[in-house]
Amino acid sequence: MQWKLNLYNQIHAMKNLFLLLTSFVIFSFASRAVETTSPDGNILLTVDLDENGTPIYSVTYKGKPVISESKLGLVGKNVDFFKGFEIVGVDTTSFDEIWEPVWGEYSTIRDNHKELAVTLKKNNPELDMILRFRVFDDGLGFRYELPLQDNVNYMTVMDELTEFNLPGDNTTFWIPGDYDTDEFLYSETLISEIPDEVVSRRGKHSESQAITDKYVIQTPMIMKTPDSLYVNIHEAALIGYPAMSLEVVPDSLLFRSHLTPDKLGVKAYIQLPFSTPWRTLLISDDARDILASQLILNLNEPSVIEDTSWIKPMKFMGVWWEMFTGGKTWAYSDDYRAKPGITDYTKLEPNGHHPANTANVKKYIDFAADHNIDAVLVEGWNEGWEDWRSYDKNRQFLFDKAYPDFDVDELRDYATAKGIQLIMHHETAANAADYELQLDRAFQFMKDNGYNAVKTGYVGAIIPRSEHHTSQWMVDHVKNVAERAAEYQILIDSHEAPRPTGLIRTYPNWLAQESARGGEFESMGGNPPSHTALLPFTRLKGGPMDYTPGLFETRLSTYGQGNNSQAGTTIARQLALYLTMPSPIQMACDLPENYQRFLDAFRFIEDVPVEWADSRYLEAEPARYITVARKDKNSDDWYVGAITDDNPRVATIDLSFLPEGQQFIATIYEDGKDASWKDNPQSYNIRTVKVNNKKVLKQKLASGGGAAIRLTPAP
Ligand code: NOJ
Ligand code: CA
Repeated sequence: MQWKLNLYNQIHAMKNLFLLLTSFVIFSFASRAVETTSPDGNILLTVDLDENGTPIYSVTYKGKPVISESKLGLVGKNVDFFKGFEIVGVDTTSFDEIWEPVWGEYSTIRDNHKELAVTLKKNNPELDMILRFRVFDDGLGFRYELPLQDNVNYMTVMDELTEFNLPGDNTTFWIPGDYDTDEFLYSETLISEIPDEVVSRRGKHSESQAITDKYVIQTPMIMKTPDSLYVNIHEAALIGYPAMSLEVVPDSLLFRSHLTPDKLGVKAYIQLPFSTPWRTLLISDDARDILASQLILNLNEPSVIEDTSWIKPMKFMGVWWEMFTGGKTWAYSDDYRAKPGITDYTKLEPNGHHPANTANVKKYIDFAADHNIDAVLVEGWNEGWEDWRSYDKNRQFLFDKAYPDFDVDELRDYATAKGIQLIMHHETAANAADYELQLDRAFQFMKDNGYNAVKTGYVGAIIPRSEHHTSQWMVDHVKNVAERAAEYQILIDSHEAPRPTGLIRTYPNWLAQESARGGEFESMGGNPPSHTALLPFTRLKGGPMDYTPGLFETRLSTYGQGNNSQAGTTIARQLALYLTMPSPIQMACDLPENYQRFLDAFRFIEDVPVEWADSRYLEAEPARYITVARKDKNSDDWYVGAITDDNPRVATIDLSFLPEGQQFIATIYEDGKDASWKDNPQSYNIRTVKVNNKKVLKQKLASGGGAAIRLTPAP
């Protein structure tokens, strides 16, 4: 009753403000619960307080429970934003806007949501917090906002107590918690099986910090409920705060937020006013909606870069895969450690197996220029690889000093003459502190030498050593790098950075990240076919991945280097990945000599665009299969990609998305009759058929296979 009176007074006091805000109070005096729905009414969100004054929320989708009563709150070192609250204001608004991303899967994105802001107050000391929810047709996001207030200025965040209480024992696709890496294969288990399974999967990575005292998994993760709802949990707009993982509370079906701490156990240092990242739930009874969802981008702020005309998506090749096939090195010399006093690299003995040399890079430039590839990435071009990471200032990675066999001027002129861009590589060995010191010099060196894009890397334990790859400090670091790169008009592709949360909307020069187990693992045991049928439901919801598709020689044993890994793919599937793993920066990862053997198949990689006007997900099931059609942003062509897991499958490709009354030529790159990823990965077939929008193609996919189709208007 006390609570109701308070609210009543508060509403009267705020009446004028409400009128101004064109919002309306939907609070019902009969019940204390506050509700709102998605614009289409399918999602119902309820927010309330429990008997301790702790905020709670629950979510249903078409009447089915998705999240049952779950607590919300933050805990500071000396203040508690968790208990003893009263609701003193409720504000709902509707929002419907269309915006244009610089690049992506769609040329326009609709942001249509209902917002519910619940203002909470407590006494002794008086503290204010706003819970802001945005409910879309395909899910919702919510965040904590700590407004400017008298009793807190700086706050040391010790914990966030966001709960996701699941009403059923959902099938869950997850990777184990780890503060430093997300390069894992996924487990598929029930929630109740996670604690046992997570223990058996811990600590597989040498330099990383596995979480050993809790049962933690990482986001983005996806679940399928017993009544066949798909639910993805992640976050949006991770800025100034650590990444969120999920802790399974044993003997329950409850996940609690688990923030990456620093070495003092502190989660974040903030100054008010402050808003946390959005906690996101993508929800649908149709798995295709999860793939099509742009909710996470919609919860990020618009681009801070005003002139984006210099931001150009691209395809690239690189000497990179030579290092993964064995025998070749990023390092120029093998003997640096033996001569610790030497800082003049011309005095070192070259090892003779260093692919980032002028002649070899020219070979890649030639191939790229002949085959419609925009850029060449050069890894191992700069000093420091012999020692990897040294505390000696003169011997660590230098981002403006090329090896003696890498002629920066000559390559710049050669690439420019051939119309090819060069992509620089900055492997920091996770010495992020030193990278910040070198950053301006490094970016200026790039601009002076014609490089407009950089792949960054953070392999190893973070320096400063008090930090992790996903702690607040590192989250700030990667954002700062993207921001400062924009000042130089430089594009970023970051590896080993905290997994993305849609910040590409705000920093569209941040084209992609790795931040998951990528194609490099095809040479380290291989990725099973289900992996790439799952990543679009999980990791890719945060943003594009530099997965590095295009592997044509899938058996590493062919290099005679004692590596018996085999990629979980056929050649046709590798082509399909350019559609199912959309990114504005796509590698053609294999060696030119391998592409020479299959030039007719490589033709698809030459043709396939990297930015789209529209996308239609035709078939989808997590870790099983994906079929997607996309319209080129710069022509009338459509493309289709279809992949399956280990099981052969017939994809149903309904071409009704094509414009009415127009004939198209479909060039189909498909698995050969006898193809399978294990036994016959290089068997493929290319054929053309005439189609129109009445046609439904029944396309066979081999075990671990796929199909890639180009549709061009018939002349
Ligand atoms: C790991 C990255 O993922 C890979 O792409 C890179 O080549 C190596 N680190 C070396 O920096
Ligand atoms: Ca990596």
